[in-house]
Amino acid sequence: MSPRPSKRPAVPGSRRVRPGIVSPLREVPPSIPRPPYILTGGQPAPGDPAPKSAEVLDRMRRAGRIAAEILAAAGAAVRPGVTTDDLDALVHDECVRRGVYPSPLGYRGFPKSVCTSLNEVICHGIPDNTVIRDGDIVNLDVTVFTEGVHGDTNATFLCGNVDTQSRKLVRVTRECLELGIAAVRPGVQVRAIGRAIQQHAEAAGFGVVRDFVGHGIGETFHAPPQVPHYDDPRATMVLEAGMTFTIEPMITIGDWRHTMWPDGWTAVTVDGKRTAQFEHMLVVTADGADILTVAG
Ligand code: MF3
Ligand code: CO
Ligand code: CO
Repeated sequence: MSPRPSKRPAVPGSRRVRPGIVSPLREVPPSIPRPPYILTGGQPAPGDPAPKSAEVLDRMRRAGRIAAEILAAAGAAVRPGVTTDDLDALVHDECVRRGVYPSPLGYRGFPKSVCTSLNEVICHGIPDNTVIRDGDIVNLDVTVFTEGVHGDTNATFLCGNVDTQSRKLVRVTRECLELGIAAVRPGVQVRAIGRAIQQHAEAAGFGVVRDFVGHGIGETFHAPPQVPHYDDPRATMVLEAGMTFTIEPMITIGDWRHTMWPDGWTAVTVDGKRTAQFEHMLVVTADGADILTVAG
């Protein structure tokens, strides 16, 4: 018998990601404090865009640092043969070890502790038995709850030999986040962030996802303002020092529109082309922005 020919396609994106098998619930020890929505069956409170006190910012900086460190550890584990559920176990165990709650777990019914979004998955992929292969790009989105606040950050990692266009996508997406952060200062509208991102993405020939946005964050996971990653005339809120929010551009090689899987979470590009994302949580300072999701 000759070996079965590899089903691995040569063309990136010609393998579609498909739903896999989700493993049983992972437990969080009862000693670790839960976010408020866990006590209300997954439904969050609305939240507040108001500037944060120095005391809250200290707590958010510690939460952000932990999220960034767990993200780096999970990213370092991305290699061919690893499943997205393996990465969920890693993130979950790191949270428990550090005594923090993995914010996705039970948020609006999300079943796992991290979002894992491969290739054409825009965001909110659910970890399952899907095997990550050489050439894939994988976004890991880590959020933790500790000291009463959330820390939220994500990055897209390369698995092995990734094609040139996908590498460019990942690079440009990282640059979009950097340019969005550079647009932040008191007195400007939220709109300025998306304008900077859209300009850079489209100059590179890429699309900007409209249907998912950055968000205010703090004691609430998703608070106002919404932070669009394109030039949205509705994003008129004026930034003030002390406001905290995420910027998390999702950039596409092709069409930016999405289709939702029946699981109600996994958002994929309509054309099956690849997409990448990077996210930081930040605070508006007197003359710019300070990133809260940096590893120690
Ligand atoms: N961390 C994601 C964000 O950046 C939200 C994930 S919600 C979940 O906003 F339920 F999908 F985990
Ligand atoms: Co976020
Ligand atoms: Co996130």
